[in-house]
Amino acid sequence: MKIGIIGIGTIGGIFLEKCLATSFIEKINIYDKENDKIQHYKNNRIKVCKFPCEVVEESENIILAVRPQDSMELFSEISKSDLSGKVIISTMSGVSIQVLRNSLGCSNILRIMPNVACSVGNGVIAADFSESFDENSKPELIQLISKLGKIFIMDERYFPALTSISGSGPAFIFVIIESFIDAGIKMGLSYDLAYSIVMEVFDGSVEMMRQSKKHPAELKNKATSPAGTTIEGIYTLENEGLRGTIMKTLIECYNKAKQFDSSLKGGIKLEE
Ligand SMILES: NC(=O)c1ccc[n+]([C@@H]2O[C@H](COP(=O)([O-])OP(=O)(O)OC[C@H]3O[C@@H](n4cnc5c(N)ncnc54)[C@H](OP(=O)(O)O)[C@@H]3O)[C@@H](O)[C@H]2O)c1
Repeated sequence: MKIGIIGIGTIGGIFLEKCLATSFIEKINIYDKENDKIQHYKNNRIKVCKFPCEVVEESENIILAVRPQDSMELFSEISKSDLSGKVIISTMSGVSIQVLRNSLGCSNILRIMPNVACSVGNGVIAADFSESFDENSKPELIQLISKLGKIFIMDERYFPALTSISGSGPAFIFVIIESFIDAGIKMGLSYDLAYSIVMEVFDGSVEMMRQSKKHPAELKNKATSPAGTTIEGIYTLENEGLRGTIMKTLIECYNKAKQFDSSLKGGIKLEE
């Protein structure tokens, strides 16, 4: 398989690394606006192209990993090439399959929504294929994208929810983890000890949910004894409105993602 990647930033860089580790990918053609910064990738499998059109012409599958506000400029550059038999894999938030199809005249479009945890192969990737997508190309693409994490195939209308829960989710989880560590420090633990313990607590809790497949409320009750310490904490969480705060946070994030989606609907440039 010959893959092209346009935009070698965070997501394009992760894809490049995963493509290199994929045996059925024989050639990777890459391009970035700042081409000087990617020259060092050049080797017998990676070609650094001078123009985005060169990536398109030399690749069967092309990953678009530029920011949404740069999409229009990119479309006007690559739509000069014949894209009709190519597969476009777009990582761009808010740029719909319809906009991609109208702008590029291409029918094989895979729109994905990755998250940062893809960098460690543990990401969440929402994916939607265009209606007329070539069925024969799907298995290899799914195999490639699986290297980034778990794929959830769904209608792209759910992508704003995924942008919130899985795209921004890790940032919120890091804040919550940080607050556990800080509380540990306040109670006299060293940072290193608090860090190690908190990581185990999060790992163990998630693993318990995974293995038992039980509703979290049921597991919470297991750890809560009458008139004990945990129920004191639960009472405070409820009094302080933790659940409402978290739900409000995710819903506000979702609303913002929907706003981005609609501002890009007609292929309009996002305001910076
Ligand atoms: N990062 C995430 O966690 C995440 C999650 C989900 C979806 N996404 C989506 O993935 C896409 C890439 O995100 P990112 O975080 O990887 O962005 P990024 O780090 O800013 O990388 C984008 C790269 O594309 C380059 N570029 C801009 N215009 C270009 C053009 N016309 N041709 C070629 N290269 C161009 C940029 O160069 P300059 O810096 O010089 O402009 C930059 O190196 C975005 O559309 C984003 O919405 C990202």
